[in-house]
Amino acid sequence: DDYELLVVGSANADLVVGVERRPTAGETVLGSDLSVHPGGKGGNQAVAAARLGARTALLARVGDDAHGTLLLDAQRAAGVDTVGVLVGGAPTGVALITVDPSGDNSIVVAPGANKRLTPEDIRAAGSLLTAARVVSTQLEIPLETVAEVARGLRPGARLVLNPSPPAPLPDEVLAACDPLVVNEHEARVILGDAAGETPEQWARGLLALGPRSVVITLGAEGALTAERGEEPVRVESPRVAAVDTTGAGDAFTAALGWRLGLGEDLVTAAAYAARVGSAAVTRKGAQDSYPTAAELAAVAPEVTSS
Ligand code: RIB
Ligand code: NA
Repeated sequence: DDYELLVVGSANADLVVGVERRPTAGETVLGSDLSVHPGGKGGNQAVAAARLGARTALLARVGDDAHGTLLLDAQRAAGVDTVGVLVGGAPTGVALITVDPSGDNSIVVAPGANKRLTPEDIRAAGSLLTAARVVSTQLEIPLETVAEVARGLRPGARLVLNPSPPAPLPDEVLAACDPLVVNEHEARVILGDAAGETPEQWARGLLALGPRSVVITLGAEGALTAERGEEPVRVESPRVAAVDTTGAGDAFTAALGWRLGLGEDLVTAAAYAARVGSAAVTRKGAQDSYPTAAELAAVAPEVTSS
């Protein structure tokens, strides 16, 4: 049980419909046929890392139902150790997703079993958590569960947190983040009116809240990394044609956490993660779009300057 990455988080069945444009209140639009994909920010992170070759385990909760089976099968097929996936207590989480012609999505999550992943479940996981060197999590599980993860880390372990969907974070969680990984929307919600307009300003504001480091994902523009006491650094993304951005941030975050655990510095790890995020937008779905190491080299080769 020598995992390179432990992911604690949500697992959802993604019910995806393509739309020409999103309906406004009171409006009905016809979309494409429905497709069902394995998803959830936790499940996505675990699959993303495992497909790249990371020894990965997932701590999550699914329902005792067909969606739960779909999600467990997808994890196992990717090589994720599912010993920490609890079954039952509520129906499997579901995400209702629309994807527009530019590849952008909007998502409503019905949490189901994810909401029943409790602090007690985290304590009961024992060495799965207390032996982990890098733990990656998100906010589709209860905040008190995330706080229990932060408390249960072994000394020197690294917590990678993507606060999605964004919510106010307790100081004990913020202080454990290394890094806190946010997109523009999440940065603005967490920082509120004081956010400022540039990624550099967001990074400075977020660092002031307590995390040891911050990474801001900027989609096609790459990412910005910031560590205490150092100037922020911009990292580029390879240019790709976007088909579906769903789950690209999850792939980015998982790859980042894994590479940091292997000993890479934050900028190098973020550059690798940006390639993984780019590769993920070139195909439909979340987990179904994640590259293996070989696919990554082909689809999103290393960005070389000059
Ligand atoms: O980040 C993408 C994910 O958000 C989807 O897979 C969906 O399940 C929601 O959790
Ligand atoms: Na995708």
